[in-house]
Amino acid sequence: HKRVAILISGGGSNMVSLVDSMTGDHPARPCLVLSNDAGAGGLKKAADRGIATAAVDHRPFKGDRAAFEAELLKPLEQAQPDIVCLAGFMRVLTGDFVSRFQGRMLNIHPSLLPKYKGLNTHARAIAAGDIEHGCSVHEVTAALDDGPILGQARLNIEAGDTPETLAARVLTYEHRLYPAVLRRFAGNDRTPVLLP
Ligand code: GAR
Repeated sequence: HKRVAILISGGGSNMVSLVDSMTGDHPARPCLVLSNDAGAGGLKKAADRGIATAAVDHRPFKGDRAAFEAELLKPLEQAQPDIVCLAGFMRVLTGDFVSRFQGRMLNIHPSLLPKYKGLNTHARAIAAGDIEHGCSVHEVTAALDDGPILGQARLNIEAGDTPETLAARVLTYEHRLYPAVLRRFAGNDRTPVLLP
């Protein structure tokens, strides 16, 4: 099996959807769930599922990304992942870090990339008057929320949607999209997954 490390910062619902998909004839298995916050709710969910966990708090590094990443690399390299999945990991990674996992690091982003890179994607889509929105999984490169798109799920923005209602609906699509992309990717197939 391919070994998959998953990086999280919060509740880890995408991490759970990935972990729970890696059973049976799936070509990959989880090897580590790693967070930049020891209080991330997802760490307990991973531990409950019998997966190794680790946390490296970014705060003591006070913006020294290289020093933070050097610590983050220790448990990550120890786990010897073939694939690294960012799943709600809210720290920007340097090109130096990303280059160590070139071609084998994925991220899920809550917009139809290349639209709305960065934060507050749902509010920005509503404010722009978009009728469509969604989520994307892409290969991670040095540029933020850039890199080849490996899958997208689209949905309609409804009248009365708020950033919160829209985020909740997009999240249900994320939970279908990311496992579908990972399964293909772990089988060396980079054909984009398009949902629904
Ligand atoms: C998800 O919506 C994910 O797409 C987003 O954070 C949420 C994490 O939820 N990621 C980003 O905004 C990355 N910049 P989760 O912890 O329940 O998976």
